[in-house]
Amino acid sequence: MKRILLTFALTATLVANFACVRKDGGPTVASDTGAIKVGVYGDLSGQTSSFGQSTKNGVQMAADEINKAGGINGRQIQLLIEDDQGQPAQAATVATKLVNQDKVVALLGEVASTNSLAAAPKAQEGKVPMITPSSTNPKVTQVGDYIFRVCFIDSFQGAVMAKFAANTLKAKTAALLGDVNSDYSKGMSQYFEEQFNKLGGKIIMRQSYTQTDPDFKGQLTSIRAANPDVIFVPGYYGQVGVIAKQAKELGINAPLLGGDGWDAPQLWELGGEALRGAYMANHYSIDDPSPAIQKFVADYKARYNNTAPDAIAALAYDAMKILADALKRAGTTDGPKLRDAIAQTADFPGVTGRITINADRDAVKPAVVLKLEPTGRKFIYTETIQPEGAAATTTTSGAPAGSASPPTVASPAAGASGTTASPAAGNANANTNTNTNANAAGARATP
Ligand code: PHE
Repeated sequence: MKRILLTFALTATLVANFACVRKDGGPTVASDTGAIKVGVYGDLSGQTSSFGQSTKNGVQMAADEINKAGGINGRQIQLLIEDDQGQPAQAATVATKLVNQDKVVALLGEVASTNSLAAAPKAQEGKVPMITPSSTNPKVTQVGDYIFRVCFIDSFQGAVMAKFAANTLKAKTAALLGDVNSDYSKGMSQYFEEQFNKLGGKIIMRQSYTQTDPDFKGQLTSIRAANPDVIFVPGYYGQVGVIAKQAKELGINAPLLGGDGWDAPQLWELGGEALRGAYMANHYSIDDPSPAIQKFVADYKARYNNTAPDAIAALAYDAMKILADALKRAGTTDGPKLRDAIAQTADFPGVTGRITINADRDAVKPAVVLKLEPTGRKFIYTETIQPEGAAATTTTSGAPAGSASPPTVASPAAGASGTTASPAAGNANANTNTNTNANAAGARATP
């Protein structure tokens, strides 16, 4: 009897090992038994460590839920988490390790588009699908057919803020202040400008910085001299918080506008009261009354010491759930088959909205515009903007009742030119949550 059992065990091991070798001669993948290894990589210790921490939290929470519910076709998910310190070269290195050495079946990451762009070729070469939860630069998924994302892209997000500036704030002129080394920042500046020009606006000053700049007063002094109606700052929270503070110190009152890169609790520590009057585009609002969002927010807070989940955490949670759904449908961890299953994701009910992966491997989703309220450190929901062609009903997120206060613009400093916008009376109603629009990149502030 003992011998029979031993033989059986040996045979099983041989079969399991055999399953590791792919017929196409490609790198071996994890066997179709045992835990399913998923690689997660992000900045856990560098200048954008809030991004990596939130990603890790969101992915771990989703993986735990999946494992508690029995796993994927009976197999548990095992996360392998790597710190890339927010450096593109390091992102490429850890992605290579996860793919070639650890034999993960998929990669989740990065947040900063520049880091995703550095790592994506490693996933593509290894035929291991990568889903970035939150990199929004269009080039990321263009790296190859194994690269996906579950968020909107910057041509949409940049246009959303240009429309908000022109239509809602009635801005006629804008200054740009971006990070020259960031693909995200460069793309956002370009898309903002294109849309702002279409709406009759003009960029009257361009300034740039790098993440290592000690301060931004030189750039801000030039911007102050140009006296724009709004200042578009498509950077990350670490610099934006300081920029907001120094802008106020220089007496600049034009509203600062930005995108998802501002989203981190540390923004408040750096910018504080100077963030009053600023607006940003983002992926979701934690004040959204939809039951799915409120359950997610409550579960996350209970799990993570009452920390509110930022958009990165929500997107990371959605990315893990979408990967699990694709693994289930594929019935295998084989790279090409898993790739196909991810590509077929349609109408997936995510926390950040219904997610359908399009032919470009991007997700087409609405954006929200949030107003920064330093008292209580709150991002206050102002409106939802739908992408082109989407029906208003496709958003799961309604306007949080009662919080759709009319946008207000910082009043111009005494003696400043009279071109600074005042809020249009027509924007004072709370109807802006269901805007659809026919414009190119899809955003309009008023229906
Ligand atoms: N979208 C940013 C990028 O592509 C990253 C980011 C997403 C930052 C969400 C904050 C919140 O670089």
